[in-house]
Amino acid sequence: MSDKPWGGVFHEATDRRVEEFTQSVSFDQRLYAHDIRGSIAHARMLAKTGVISTEECRQIVAGLEQIGHDIAAGQFAFRRELEDVHMNIERALVERIGDVGRKLHTGRSRNDQVSTDLRLWCRDQVDAICAAIIELQRAFVGRADREDADVILPGYTHLQRAQPVLAAHYWLAYCEKLQRDRERLADCRRRVNQLPLGTAALAGTTIPIDRQIVADELGFEGILANSLDSSGDRDFVLELASVLATIAVHLSGWAEEWILWSTTEFGFLKLPQQFCTGSSIMPQKINPDVLELIRGKAGRVIGNLTGLLVLMKGLPLAYNRDLQEDKERLFDSVDTMLACLELAAPLVAEAELNREAIASRLDRGYLDATTLMEYLILRGVPQRTAHEIIGRLVATAMQRRVPLADLPLEEFQSAHASLDKSVFDVLGVEHAVEAFTSFGSTNPKQVEQQLAAWRERLNQGTKLISHRDDTND
Ligand code: ARG
Repeated sequence: MSDKPWGGVFHEATDRRVEEFTQSVSFDQRLYAHDIRGSIAHARMLAKTGVISTEECRQIVAGLEQIGHDIAAGQFAFRRELEDVHMNIERALVERIGDVGRKLHTGRSRNDQVSTDLRLWCRDQVDAICAAIIELQRAFVGRADREDADVILPGYTHLQRAQPVLAAHYWLAYCEKLQRDRERLADCRRRVNQLPLGTAALAGTTIPIDRQIVADELGFEGILANSLDSSGDRDFVLELASVLATIAVHLSGWAEEWILWSTTEFGFLKLPQQFCTGSSIMPQKINPDVLELIRGKAGRVIGNLTGLLVLMKGLPLAYNRDLQEDKERLFDSVDTMLACLELAAPLVAEAELNREAIASRLDRGYLDATTLMEYLILRGVPQRTAHEIIGRLVATAMQRRVPLADLPLEEFQSAHASLDKSVFDVLGVEHAVEAFTSFGSTNPKQVEQQLAAWRERLNQGTKLISHRDDTND
């Protein structure tokens, strides 16, 4: 008997270099638990449809379970010459239970098997990533319960001072981005959670299988309908890698912002020392390396997505061995983002805003200029005219190196007759923040409402960690 499960037709042994080149067990062994789960479901289905006997099924299931325990305990030697995790487990089964084990692969191929395993694995990872995002959202919302909740921050566009925003508004901005990421994950999960097993190699099988039984057993929401499509489809991998890249981009932008904020030049933020590292030469350094790596790791996650897209392009139907190259990139994106999210949450929770440093410079940058312009508009001045008038007032204030609120009343009145002493009610960042009225604005009452909604949503979040309806709240 040949050493390879596919060896019948061959009359020459595989070149050792080919074995090494084609093996995937060195990295796909992490799919072992999902492979075993899938195989048990397949065996049970074969017994229910009468393809194998109940006793044969019992032996196969017991053998697979035992192999699972051995692998978990580190007592299983994966053999590279057996290519992948699937053939390693199947070979071990035959070695343990004899010929009955040779029936397991009835009505399936490794093509639908690997896709099933990978989908089961992705489903678990989507749930884990979702749970990690919820923790990060909680960290952001949790900041609003601290004493720095009422801090006013300069909001930026083009990294130039623009308009004032409440710190809580800023925290919630990231919650919104992360919420969309959760929605994307939930949506991706629906397409991940479709059963390919039973499509066999590419065309289906003549064996009387029942795919619905397998789908029910494994918790798949649906069964993929076209064997030629599903046996080689990896859209779900692309989709998950793409959602992960989007999360990476969100975290990277946040990390960049906090790296800047923690500089002496900004001085907005004190990072917790447990999340910083030092310099081997400069004794005074406390560096934001974790944030820098979160920013940097976005590069590899984006690279993984690009690599996967290039891998998939130009592949004819159905399975091609190229697809084996999907795993390391996907694994890397998942591992990377779980690690980033896990560190981001405590960093967000424990960093401290430097209230004084922030407050002492809030009167710079004319953060209240737009509010003053809108004050004029509300008194009937056309927007373009109001913009011009306030622009000139700002220029005057700049020349005198004072904030708008320090200009004398006469200056405002000569700029426009309807600028009376009530301008001082909208000048200064505290007034400016209060003056906002629109839904979704940084007005304190608006922000309070949003905060309440977020607290509520995230409280519900605990029970939703693994579920797709968690974004419909
Ligand atoms: N290890 C392969 C993969 O990861 C699955 C095996 C399919 N191989 C084959 N010759 N049909 O894609």
